[in-house]
Amino acid sequence: MSIVAAPRVVNIEDLRRLAKRRLPRVVFDYIDGGADGETTLRENCRAFEAIDFRPRSAVALSACDLHTRVLGTELALPFGLAPVGSSRLFWPLGEAMAARAAGEAGTVYTLSTLSGTRLEEVKAASRGPCWYQVYLCGGRDVALSAIARARAAGYSALVVTIDTPVAGLRERDVRNGTKELLTRNPWTMLPWLPELLAHPRWLASVLGDGGLMKFPNIVLPDGPMGYADVGAALEASVVCWDDLAWIREAWDGPVIIKGVHTADDARRAVDAGARAVVVSNHGGRQLDGVAATIRVLPEVVEAVGHEVDVLLDSGIRRGGDVVKALCLGAKAVLIGRAEAIGIGAAGHAGVARAIEILRADVMRTLKLLGCPSIAALDRSYVDAGALARASSGSRRDAVGRARQEADLPA
Ligand SMILES: Cc1cc2nc3c(=O)[nH]c(=O)nc-3n(C[C@H](O)[C@H](O)[C@H](O)COP(=O)(O)O)c2cc1C
Repeated sequence: MSIVAAPRVVNIEDLRRLAKRRLPRVVFDYIDGGADGETTLRENCRAFEAIDFRPRSAVALSACDLHTRVLGTELALPFGLAPVGSSRLFWPLGEAMAARAAGEAGTVYTLSTLSGTRLEEVKAASRGPCWYQVYLCGGRDVALSAIARARAAGYSALVVTIDTPVAGLRERDVRNGTKELLTRNPWTMLPWLPELLAHPRWLASVLGDGGLMKFPNIVLPDGPMGYADVGAALEASVVCWDDLAWIREAWDGPVIIKGVHTADDARRAVDAGARAVVVSNHGGRQLDGVAATIRVLPEVVEAVGHEVDVLLDSGIRRGGDVVKALCLGAKAVLIGRAEAIGIGAAGHAGVARAIEILRADVMRTLKLLGCPSIAALDRSYVDAGALARASSGSRRDAVGRARQEADLPA
C-alpha cells in the first residue's frame, strides 16, 4: 500500500507529518514556516475555523457538481495549485510532479519563477491548464525572455506576485542555517550537515536529481541564477504598478495579480488590466500581522467581484475551508502548503493524495450543506456575522494578551 494512502493519511495534517519525517528540518521548515512571529500564518487557519456553516438539511444529493470557471476556463475542482518556489528541493522534478497531479485532477498548476525545473518540462508534464508566476529577478529583459518561453510552451495566464518587495524574515530559516548551507563552503556548512545526513533517502534523491538546483527560468547573461542570490534579486527587482504596462504588452493572455489585501489595491489591479486577483498574504510568509485572507475577501469581492474573478489563498487545509471561501465570493482558491507538503511527503503520489483529500472534503461538505453545486454556493450557507464577531473577538483577545504580557490593567 502506498505510504500516502488512507487510512494512514486521512487529512492534510497527516501528510504534513510524513513530510516532516522525510525532509531535513531546513527544508521542512522552509515549507512550513511563516514570517516573524508567524501570527498571520496561524490567523489564516484560525479565521476559517471562526466561520459557521448554515446547512439545509434533509436534502438528498447523489453527487454534487464541483466544476467552476476561472478566466473562462472550466476547472473540474474549485481549487488549483499555487506557485511554490524550490519544489525541486522537496522531490526530484517536484514542480513537474505537482503539475502532473493537478492536470490529472482537471485543475490548474501555477509554476513559480523560482522553480528548479524548466518551465517547458513542467508544462509538458501536465494535461491541464498551467499558469506562470512572475517575479522580476534579474530584471526586465530576463523576465521578458521567460514570459516569451511561457507563451511558446502553452501557459495560459501570467500570475504577477506583488507582495514580495523583500523576502519576509522566516526566523526558522535563519535558525536552521539556510544561508550557511547555501554558501557551498564545507567549513561554513559543517554545523548543519548532520541534519542533512540524518535524512539519507531525501539526500540521495536530491543528489540523484543533480544536487542543489539552480533556477532555469531565470537566465542571466552568465547562465541560470544560483540559489544564494534569491533575496538580493527579489529586492533589486520589485514589481510595481508601472511594470504591469510592459508585462501586459509582452503577454497577450490574461494577467492575474496575486497578493491583494485591500479593496484599493484590488481596484488598482483591475484598472491596470488584471483579469483576476488573488487575495493572498503569501501564506503568512511575507508581512506578518496582515489580516487573514478570508477576513478581507468580502471587501475585495465587493470592490471588483462584478468585473473580474476573485481567487483566494492562504490557510486552506480542509475542503470546508475551500467551501467557506467560495460562499464568501471567491471563484476558486489556491493551495500552497497542502501542495508543498504533498510533494515533500511523496512527490506525485503525495500531491495527488492532497488533491483527493480536499476534493472528497468539498464533495462531502456540499452534501452536508444540502447544496447541489459549487455554482449554487453563496453567503446564505455561512454565518458571515460570525466572521466579524470572531474578528473583533480575536482583536480583543490579542489586546488582552498584550496587556497581560505588559502587565497593564485591562
Ligand atoms: C514553500 C513555499 C514557497 C512559495 N513560493 C512562492 C513563489 O515562488 N511565488 C509566489 O508567488 N508564492 C509563493 N508561495 C506562496 C504560495 O503561492 C501561496 O500564496 C501560499 O502558500 C498560500 O498559503 P497556504 O500555504 O497557507 O496555502 C510559496 C509558499 C510556500 C509554502
